[in-house]
Amino acid sequence: MGLQGVETAAWFGRAKAALVSGVSSGFRYLGDDDTFVISRGDGGYVYDMDGKRYIDYQLGYGPVILGHGHPAVSAAVSEAASAGTTFAMTNSTEVVAAERIKQAVPWVDRLRFTNTGTEATMHAIRLARGVTGREIVVKFEGAYHGAHDYVLFSTASSPADSLGSPRSPVPHQVSSGIPEAIRHTVRVVPFNDLGAAQRLFESDGRHIAAFLVEPVLGNVFGIMPEPGFLEGIRRLCDQFGAVLIFDEVKTGFRIALGGATEAFGVVPDLATFAKSMGNGFPVAAVAGREEVIGAWEVGGITQAGTYSGNGIAAAAAAATIGELMSGKVYRHIAEVGGVLMEGIARVCSDRGVVASIIGQPAIFSVYFGEGNPRDFRGTADHNHELYTELIHGMVRRGVMPCDDALEPWFLCGAHTLDDAAETLEAFEASLVEALG
Ligand SMILES: Cc1ncc(COP(=O)(O)O)c(C=O)c1O
Repeated sequence: MGLQGVETAAWFGRAKAALVSGVSSGFRYLGDDDTFVISRGDGGYVYDMDGKRYIDYQLGYGPVILGHGHPAVSAAVSEAASAGTTFAMTNSTEVVAAERIKQAVPWVDRLRFTNTGTEATMHAIRLARGVTGREIVVKFEGAYHGAHDYVLFSTASSPADSLGSPRSPVPHQVSSGIPEAIRHTVRVVPFNDLGAAQRLFESDGRHIAAFLVEPVLGNVFGIMPEPGFLEGIRRLCDQFGAVLIFDEVKTGFRIALGGATEAFGVVPDLATFAKSMGNGFPVAAVAGREEVIGAWEVGGITQAGTYSGNGIAAAAAAATIGELMSGKVYRHIAEVGGVLMEGIARVCSDRGVVASIIGQPAIFSVYFGEGNPRDFRGTADHNHELYTELIHGMVRRGVMPCDDALEPWFLCGAHTLDDAAETLEAFEASLVEALG
Protein backbone atom coordinates (compact mmCIF):
# COMPACT_ATOMS: atom_id res chain seq x y z
CA MET A 1 0.00 0.00 0.00
CA GLY A 2 1.37 3.40 -1.00
CA LEU A 3 1.56 6.47 1.20
CA GLN A 4 -0.61 8.79 -0.90
CA GLY A 5 -4.25 9.55 -0.13
CA VAL A 6 -6.81 9.67 -2.96
CA GLU A 7 -6.44 13.39 -3.78
CA THR A 8 -2.66 13.31 -3.44
CA ALA A 9 -2.47 10.34 -5.82
CA ALA A 10 -4.64 12.20 -8.34
CA TRP A 11 -2.41 15.29 -8.11
CA PHE A 12 0.69 13.18 -8.50
CA GLY A 13 -0.84 11.77 -11.70
CA ARG A 14 -1.20 15.34 -12.98
CA ALA A 15 2.32 16.15 -11.80
CA LYS A 16 3.75 13.22 -13.77
CA ALA A 17 2.02 14.32 -16.94
CA ALA A 18 3.53 17.80 -16.72
CA LEU A 19 6.82 17.42 -14.79
CA VAL A 20 9.36 14.72 -15.56
CA SER A 21 8.71 11.97 -12.97
CA GLY A 22 6.35 14.48 -11.33
CA VAL A 23 9.18 16.41 -9.66
CA SER A 24 11.46 19.40 -10.20
CA SER A 25 14.49 17.82 -8.49
CA GLY A 26 15.47 14.18 -9.03
CA PHE A 27 15.96 13.42 -5.32
CA ARG A 28 12.26 14.08 -4.66
CA TYR A 29 10.93 11.13 -6.64
CA LEU A 30 10.23 8.31 -4.17
CA GLY A 31 8.20 6.01 -6.43
CA ASP A 32 4.80 6.41 -8.05
CA ASP A 33 2.86 5.58 -4.86
CA ASP A 34 5.03 7.32 -2.28
CA THR A 35 5.89 10.71 -3.80
CA PHE A 36 3.93 13.49 -2.16
CA VAL A 37 2.21 16.56 -3.52
CA ILE A 38 2.01 19.23 -0.84
CA SER A 39 -0.66 21.93 -0.66
CA ARG A 40 0.92 24.12 2.02
CA GLY A 41 3.21 24.41 5.00
CA ASP A 42 2.50 26.11 8.30
CA GLY A 43 5.11 26.36 11.07
CA GLY A 44 6.46 22.86 11.73
CA TYR A 45 3.78 21.16 9.61
CA VAL A 46 3.09 20.36 5.97
CA TYR A 47 -0.28 19.34 4.49
CA ASP A 48 -0.81 16.99 1.54
CA MET A 49 -3.54 17.32 -1.09
CA ASP A 50 -5.93 15.28 1.09
CA GLY A 51 -5.55 17.87 3.85
CA LYS A 52 -3.58 15.42 6.02
CA ARG A 53 -1.13 17.11 8.38
CA TYR A 54 2.45 15.90 8.94
CA ILE A 55 5.06 17.06 11.44
CA ASP A 56 7.75 18.02 8.98
CA TYR A 57 11.35 17.03 9.76
CA GLN A 58 12.51 17.46 6.14
CA LEU A 59 11.93 21.21 6.10
CA GLY A 60 12.86 21.26 2.42
CA TYR A 61 16.14 19.36 3.18
CA GLY A 62 17.01 21.87 5.86
CA PRO A 63 16.30 25.48 4.92
CA VAL A 64 13.11 26.17 6.87
CA ILE A 65 14.72 26.94 10.23
CA LEU A 66 12.02 29.31 11.48
CA GLY A 67 9.07 27.22 10.29
CA HIS A 68 6.99 27.38 7.10
CA GLY A 69 5.38 30.73 6.28
CA HIS A 70 7.10 32.57 9.14
CA PRO A 71 5.23 35.90 9.54
CA ALA A 72 8.30 38.17 9.71
CA VAL A 73 9.85 36.60 6.60
CA SER A 74 6.54 36.57 4.70
CA ALA A 75 5.95 40.24 5.50
CA ALA A 76 9.46 41.26 4.41
CA VAL A 77 9.13 39.26 1.18
CA SER A 78 5.67 40.70 0.36
CA GLU A 79 6.99 44.21 0.83
CA ALA A 80 10.00 43.45 -1.37
CA ALA A 81 7.81 41.86 -4.05
CA SER A 82 5.68 44.95 -4.44
CA ALA A 83 8.75 47.21 -4.60
CA GLY A 84 10.13 45.41 -7.68
CA THR A 85 12.79 42.77 -7.36
CA THR A 86 15.39 42.74 -10.14
CA PHE A 87 17.13 45.90 -11.32
CA ALA A 88 20.55 45.09 -12.83
CA MET A 89 21.76 47.42 -10.07
CA THR A 90 22.55 46.95 -6.39
CA ASN A 91 19.43 47.32 -4.27
CA SER A 92 19.35 48.59 -0.69
CA THR A 93 17.86 45.37 0.75
CA GLU A 94 20.82 43.45 -0.64
CA VAL A 95 23.18 45.76 1.24
CA VAL A 96 21.25 45.26 4.49
CA ALA A 97 21.26 41.46 4.01
CA ALA A 98 25.01 41.43 3.34
CA GLU A 99 25.63 43.55 6.45
CA ARG A 100 23.57 41.11 8.53
CA ILE A 101 25.62 38.16 7.26
CA LYS A 102 28.83 39.95 8.22
CA GLN A 103 27.38 40.68 11.67
CA ALA A 104 26.28 37.06 12.16
CA VAL A 105 29.49 35.53 10.80
CA PRO A 106 32.18 37.94 11.96
CA TRP A 107 35.15 36.37 10.14
CA VAL A 108 33.51 37.25 6.79
CA ASP A 109 35.02 40.37 5.21
CA ARG A 110 32.81 40.58 2.11
CA LEU A 111 30.53 38.41 0.00
CA ARG A 112 28.45 38.09 -3.12
CA PHE A 113 24.97 36.64 -3.36
CA THR A 114 23.91 33.76 -5.59
CA ASN A 115 20.57 31.96 -5.76
CA THR A 116 21.38 28.35 -4.88
CA GLY A 117 24.01 26.32 -3.08
CA THR A 118 25.01 24.78 -6.41
CA GLU A 119 25.80 28.18 -7.87
CA ALA A 120 27.66 29.17 -4.71
CA THR A 121 30.01 26.16 -4.69
CA MET A 122 30.58 26.51 -8.45
CA HIS A 123 31.64 30.15 -8.01
CA ALA A 124 33.73 29.41 -4.92
CA ILE A 125 35.63 26.73 -6.82
CA ARG A 126 36.29 29.01 -9.79
CA LEU A 127 37.46 31.78 -7.46
CA ALA A 128 39.85 29.40 -5.68
CA ARG A 129 41.21 28.17 -9.02
CA GLY A 130 41.58 31.72 -10.27
CA VAL A 131 43.41 32.84 -7.14
CA THR A 132 45.80 29.89 -6.98
CA GLY A 133 46.27 29.18 -10.69
CA ARG A 134 45.73 25.49 -9.87
CA GLU A 135 43.00 23.03 -10.90
CA ILE A 136 42.56 20.23 -8.39
CA VAL A 137 39.72 20.29 -5.87
CA VAL A 138 39.62 17.89 -2.92
CA LYS A 139 36.33 16.75 -1.39
CA PHE A 140 35.18 14.14 1.10
CA GLU A 141 33.60 10.85 0.15
CA GLY A 142 29.85 11.09 0.68
CA ALA A 143 29.76 14.88 0.59
CA TYR A 144 27.27 16.55 -1.75
CA HIS A 145 28.05 20.06 -2.92
CA GLY A 146 25.36 20.62 -5.54
CA ALA A 147 24.48 19.47 -9.02
CA HIS A 148 27.29 20.98 -11.15
CA ASP A 149 29.88 18.86 -12.92
CA TYR A 150 32.86 19.67 -10.67
CA VAL A 151 31.46 18.02 -7.54
CA LEU A 152 29.34 15.05 -8.64
CA PHE A 153 31.95 12.53 -7.55
CA SER A 154 31.85 10.03 -4.66
CA THR A 155 28.66 11.45 -3.17
CA ALA A 156 26.31 9.52 -0.91
CA SER A 157 24.76 8.04 -4.09
CA SER A 158 27.99 6.17 -4.85
CA PRO A 159 27.91 2.41 -4.19
CA ALA A 160 30.38 1.26 -1.50
CA ASP A 161 32.28 -0.90 -3.99
CA SER A 162 32.93 2.06 -6.33
CA LEU A 163 35.16 3.97 -3.92
CA GLY A 164 38.43 2.05 -4.19
CA SER A 165 40.81 1.42 -1.30
CA PRO A 166 40.64 3.88 1.63
CA ARG A 167 44.43 4.36 1.16
CA SER A 168 44.01 5.41 -2.46
CA PRO A 169 40.36 6.39 -2.96
CA VAL A 170 38.97 6.63 -6.50
CA PRO A 171 36.61 9.51 -7.40
CA HIS A 172 33.35 7.84 -8.48
CA GLN A 173 31.42 9.82 -11.10
CA VAL A 174 27.75 9.71 -10.09
CA SER A 175 26.17 10.98 -13.30
CA SER A 176 26.49 10.58 -17.03
CA GLY A 177 27.03 13.75 -19.01
CA ILE A 178 30.13 14.97 -17.17
CA PRO A 179 33.14 15.55 -19.44
CA GLU A 180 35.92 13.02 -18.86
CA ALA A 181 38.48 15.80 -18.30
CA ILE A 182 36.72 16.91 -15.12
CA ARG A 183 37.38 13.64 -13.30
CA HIS A 184 41.08 14.47 -13.41
CA THR A 185 40.47 17.65 -11.41
CA VAL A 186 38.85 15.88 -8.45
CA ARG A 187 40.46 14.08 -5.51
CA VAL A 188 38.53 12.43 -2.69
CA VAL A 189 39.44 11.45 0.85
CA PRO A 190 37.42 9.83 3.65
CA PHE A 191 35.99 12.23 6.25
CA ASN A 192 37.79 12.33 9.61
CA ASP A 193 40.93 10.79 8.07
CA LEU A 194 43.64 13.42 8.41
CA GLY A 195 46.33 10.91 7.44
CA ALA A 196 44.67 10.36 4.04
CA ALA A 197 44.41 14.11 3.47
CA GLN A 198 48.06 14.55 4.45
CA ARG A 199 49.22 11.83 2.04
CA LEU A 200 47.25 13.43 -0.76
CA PHE A 201 48.69 16.90 -0.12
CA GLU A 202 52.20 15.46 0.11
CA SER A 203 51.87 13.92 -3.34
CA ASP A 204 49.66 16.50 -5.16
CA GLY A 205 49.77 19.58 -2.92
CA ARG A 206 51.26 21.98 -5.43
CA HIS A 207 48.35 21.34 -7.83
CA ILE A 208 45.55 21.62 -5.25
CA ALA A 209 43.48 24.79 -5.64
CA ALA A 210 40.95 24.10 -2.91
CA PHE A 211 39.77 21.73 -0.22
CA LEU A 212 35.97 21.84 -0.37
CA VAL A 213 34.91 20.83 3.12
CA GLU A 214 31.46 20.14 4.44
CA PRO A 215 32.30 20.63 8.14
CA VAL A 216 29.50 18.24 9.16
CA LEU A 217 28.61 15.50 6.65
CA GLY A 218 25.10 16.85 6.17
CA ASN A 219 24.25 14.32 3.47
CA VAL A 220 25.67 11.32 5.39
CA PHE A 221 23.80 11.05 8.71
CA GLY A 222 25.17 14.44 9.87
CA ILE A 223 28.49 12.83 10.89
CA MET A 224 30.48 15.31 12.99
CA PRO A 225 34.18 16.18 12.63
CA GLU A 226 36.37 14.57 15.28
CA PRO A 227 38.33 16.91 17.57
CA GLY A 228 41.35 18.33 15.75
CA PHE A 229 40.23 17.19 12.28
CA LEU A 230 39.15 20.56 10.85
CA GLU A 231 42.19 22.17 12.48
CA GLY A 232 44.40 19.64 10.67
CA ILE A 233 42.74 20.39 7.32
CA ARG A 234 43.28 24.12 7.95
CA ARG A 235 47.00 23.48 8.60
CA LEU A 236 47.37 21.44 5.40
CA CYS A 237 45.74 24.17 3.30
CA ASP A 238 48.05 26.77 4.86
CA GLN A 239 51.13 24.61 4.36
CA PHE A 240 50.40 23.89 0.69
CA GLY A 241 48.79 27.22 -0.30
CA ALA A 242 45.33 25.79 -1.04
CA VAL A 243 42.09 27.68 -0.44
CA LEU A 244 39.98 26.21 2.37
CA ILE A 245 36.30 26.43 1.42
CA PHE A 246 33.68 25.51 4.00
CA ASP A 247 30.51 24.44 2.24
CA GLU A 248 28.07 25.67 4.87
CA VAL A 249 24.97 25.25 2.72
CA LYS A 250 23.55 22.90 5.36
CA THR A 251 25.45 23.94 8.51
CA GLY A 252 25.36 27.72 7.98
CA PHE A 253 22.81 29.55 10.18
CA ARG A 254 21.64 26.13 11.39
CA ILE A 255 24.16 24.58 13.79
CA ALA A 256 24.87 28.09 15.12
CA LEU A 257 24.30 31.66 13.93
CA GLY A 258 27.97 31.80 12.91
CA GLY A 259 27.82 28.29 11.39
CA ALA A 260 30.71 25.84 11.60
CA THR A 261 33.27 28.49 12.48
CA GLU A 262 31.33 29.38 15.61
CA ALA A 263 30.68 25.71 16.38
CA PHE A 264 34.19 24.36 15.80
CA GLY A 265 36.48 27.41 15.96
CA VAL A 266 38.18 26.85 12.59
CA VAL A 267 38.11 29.72 10.08
CA PRO A 268 38.10 28.97 6.32
CA ASP A 269 39.15 31.29 3.48
CA LEU A 270 35.78 31.07 1.74
CA ALA A 271 32.37 29.74 2.73
CA THR A 272 29.18 29.04 0.85
CA PHE A 273 25.88 29.75 2.60
CA ALA A 274 22.32 29.00 1.47
CA LYS A 275 19.43 27.02 3.01
CA SER A 276 18.82 28.29 6.58
CA MET A 277 19.92 31.77 5.59
CA GLY A 278 16.63 32.35 3.75
CA ASN A 279 14.06 30.12 5.52
CA GLY A 280 13.11 28.41 2.26
CA PHE A 281 13.58 31.26 -0.22
CA PRO A 282 16.23 30.75 -2.90
CA VAL A 283 19.16 32.78 -1.63
CA ALA A 284 22.80 31.82 -1.25
CA ALA A 285 26.18 33.50 -0.94
CA VAL A 286 29.90 33.04 -1.36
CA ALA A 287 31.58 34.81 1.54
CA GLY A 288 35.22 35.15 2.41
CA ARG A 289 38.32 36.67 3.76
CA GLU A 290 39.47 39.71 1.86
CA GLU A 291 42.69 38.09 0.52
CA VAL A 292 40.60 35.60 -1.48
CA ILE A 293 37.16 37.13 -2.04
CA GLY A 294 38.75 40.45 -2.99
CA ALA A 295 40.13 38.77 -6.12
CA TRP A 296 36.72 39.30 -7.72
CA GLU A 297 37.36 43.04 -7.45
CA VAL A 298 40.74 42.75 -9.12
CA GLY A 299 38.95 41.24 -12.12
CA GLY A 300 39.54 38.38 -14.50
CA ILE A 301 37.52 35.81 -12.54
CA THR A 302 33.91 35.75 -13.67
CA GLN A 303 31.04 35.83 -11.22
CA ALA A 304 27.59 36.83 -12.44
CA GLY A 305 23.87 36.16 -12.07
CA THR A 306 20.78 38.03 -13.24
CA TYR A 307 18.87 37.22 -10.06
CA SER A 308 21.77 37.31 -7.60
CA GLY A 309 20.89 39.59 -4.70
CA ASN A 310 17.35 40.16 -5.99
CA GLY A 311 15.02 42.00 -3.63
CA ILE A 312 12.94 38.97 -2.60
CA ALA A 313 15.94 36.79 -1.82
CA ALA A 314 17.68 39.60 0.01
CA ALA A 315 14.58 40.47 2.02
CA ALA A 316 14.15 36.82 3.01
CA ALA A 317 17.78 36.59 4.14
CA ALA A 318 17.71 39.88 6.04
CA ALA A 319 14.48 38.95 7.83
CA THR A 320 15.56 35.37 8.60
CA ILE A 321 18.94 36.39 9.99
CA GLY A 322 17.22 39.17 11.93
CA GLU A 323 14.99 36.54 13.60
CA LEU A 324 17.92 34.23 14.30
CA MET A 325 20.11 36.89 15.88
CA SER A 326 18.61 36.77 19.37
CA GLY A 327 19.62 33.11 19.73
CA LYS A 328 16.10 32.13 20.90
CA VAL A 329 15.48 29.83 17.94
CA TYR A 330 18.76 27.96 18.57
CA ARG A 331 17.92 27.45 22.25
CA HIS A 332 14.46 26.20 21.32
CA ILE A 333 15.78 23.79 18.70
CA ALA A 334 18.39 22.50 21.16
CA GLU A 335 15.63 21.71 23.66
CA VAL A 336 13.13 20.05 21.29
CA GLY A 337 15.81 18.29 19.23
CA GLY A 338 17.52 17.09 22.41
CA VAL A 339 14.25 15.53 23.64
CA LEU A 340 13.86 13.76 20.29
CA MET A 341 17.43 12.46 20.18
CA GLU A 342 17.25 11.12 23.72
CA GLY A 343 13.76 9.69 23.22
CA ILE A 344 14.67 7.89 19.99
CA ALA A 345 17.78 6.41 21.62
CA ARG A 346 15.67 5.21 24.55
CA VAL A 347 12.97 3.64 22.33
CA CYS A 348 15.61 1.82 20.26
CA SER A 349 17.33 0.47 23.36
CA ASP A 350 13.99 -0.57 24.94
CA ARG A 351 13.09 -2.45 21.76
CA GLY A 352 16.50 -4.11 21.42
CA VAL A 353 17.44 -2.28 18.20
CA VAL A 354 21.13 -1.44 17.84
CA ALA A 355 21.23 2.23 16.86
CA SER A 356 23.26 5.43 17.16
CA ILE A 357 21.70 8.85 17.11
CA ILE A 358 24.28 10.87 15.20
CA GLY A 359 24.70 14.63 15.00
CA GLN A 360 23.20 17.40 17.08
CA PRO A 361 19.65 18.65 17.80
CA ALA A 362 19.41 20.95 14.75
CA ILE A 363 20.49 18.18 12.35
CA PHE A 364 20.60 14.57 13.48
CA SER A 365 20.13 11.06 12.10
CA VAL A 366 19.21 7.60 13.23
CA TYR A 367 21.80 4.99 12.28
CA PHE A 368 20.68 1.37 12.51
CA GLY A 369 24.01 -0.41 12.86
CA GLU A 370 26.90 -1.14 15.21
CA GLY A 371 29.13 1.65 16.49
CA ASN A 372 29.40 5.26 15.50
CA PRO A 373 30.39 5.75 11.84
CA ARG A 374 33.09 8.40 11.32
CA ASP A 375 32.91 8.54 7.52
CA PHE A 376 30.77 7.50 4.54
CA ARG A 377 32.40 4.07 4.20
CA GLY A 378 31.59 3.36 7.85
CA THR A 379 27.84 3.58 7.19
CA ALA A 380 27.68 0.55 4.90
CA ASP A 381 26.07 -1.67 7.58
CA HIS A 382 23.07 0.59 8.17
CA ASN A 383 19.81 -1.37 7.94
CA HIS A 384 18.07 0.58 5.16
CA GLU A 385 15.09 -1.80 4.94
CA LEU A 386 14.21 -1.44 8.61
CA TYR A 387 14.67 2.33 8.48
CA THR A 388 12.50 2.82 5.39
CA GLU A 389 9.73 0.66 6.83
CA LEU A 390 9.93 2.60 10.09
CA ILE A 391 9.64 5.95 8.28
CA HIS A 392 6.74 4.75 6.14
CA GLY A 393 4.95 3.80 9.37
CA MET A 394 5.67 7.26 10.76
CA VAL A 395 4.43 8.98 7.61
CA ARG A 396 1.16 7.03 7.89
CA ARG A 397 0.96 8.32 11.48
CA GLY A 398 1.49 11.95 10.37
CA VAL A 399 5.23 12.41 10.99
CA MET A 400 7.54 13.09 8.06
CA PRO A 401 11.32 12.69 8.26
CA CYS A 402 13.11 11.81 4.99
CA ASP A 403 12.84 8.06 4.32
CA ASP A 404 16.54 7.96 3.42
CA ALA A 405 18.43 7.78 6.72
CA LEU A 406 21.49 9.50 5.25
CA GLU A 407 19.45 12.69 4.98
CA PRO A 408 19.19 14.03 8.56
CA TRP A 409 16.14 15.11 10.52
CA PHE A 410 15.92 18.91 10.66
CA LEU A 411 14.38 20.91 13.47
CA CYS A 412 12.84 24.37 13.28
CA GLY A 413 11.78 27.09 15.69
CA ALA A 414 8.11 26.14 15.24
CA HIS A 415 8.38 22.50 16.38
CA THR A 416 6.98 22.10 19.89
CA LEU A 417 7.56 19.70 22.76
CA ASP A 418 4.08 18.30 22.00
CA ASP A 419 5.28 17.61 18.44
CA ALA A 420 8.29 15.80 19.90
CA ALA A 421 6.02 13.68 22.14
CA GLU A 422 3.73 12.82 19.19
CA THR A 423 6.80 11.97 17.11
CA LEU A 424 8.22 9.63 19.75
CA GLU A 425 4.87 7.82 20.02
CA ALA A 426 4.76 7.41 16.24
CA PHE A 427 8.41 6.29 16.23
CA GLU A 428 7.80 3.57 18.82
CA ALA A 429 4.58 2.27 17.23
CA SER A 430 6.18 2.25 13.77
CA LEU A 431 9.34 0.56 15.00
CA VAL A 432 7.36 -2.21 16.71
CA GLU A 433 5.36 -2.67 13.49
CA ALA A 434 8.50 -2.71 11.30
CA LEU A 435 10.19 -5.27 13.56
CA GLY A 436 7.12 -7.48 13.02
C1 LIG B 1 26.33 20.84 1.56
C2 LIG B 1 25.56 21.21 0.34
N1 LIG B 1 26.14 21.97 -0.60
C3 LIG B 1 25.48 22.36 -1.70
C4 LIG B 1 24.19 21.97 -1.92
C5 LIG B 1 23.46 22.40 -3.17
O1 LIG B 1 22.52 23.38 -2.85
P1 LIG B 1 21.28 23.66 -3.82
O2 LIG B 1 20.40 22.46 -3.75
O3 LIG B 1 20.66 24.92 -3.24
O4 LIG B 1 21.82 23.91 -5.17
C6 LIG B 1 23.53 21.17 -0.98
C7 LIG B 1 22.14 20.72 -1.20
O5 LIG B 1 21.58 19.94 -0.49
C8 LIG B 1 24.24 20.78 0.19
O6 LIG B 1 23.68 20.00 1.11
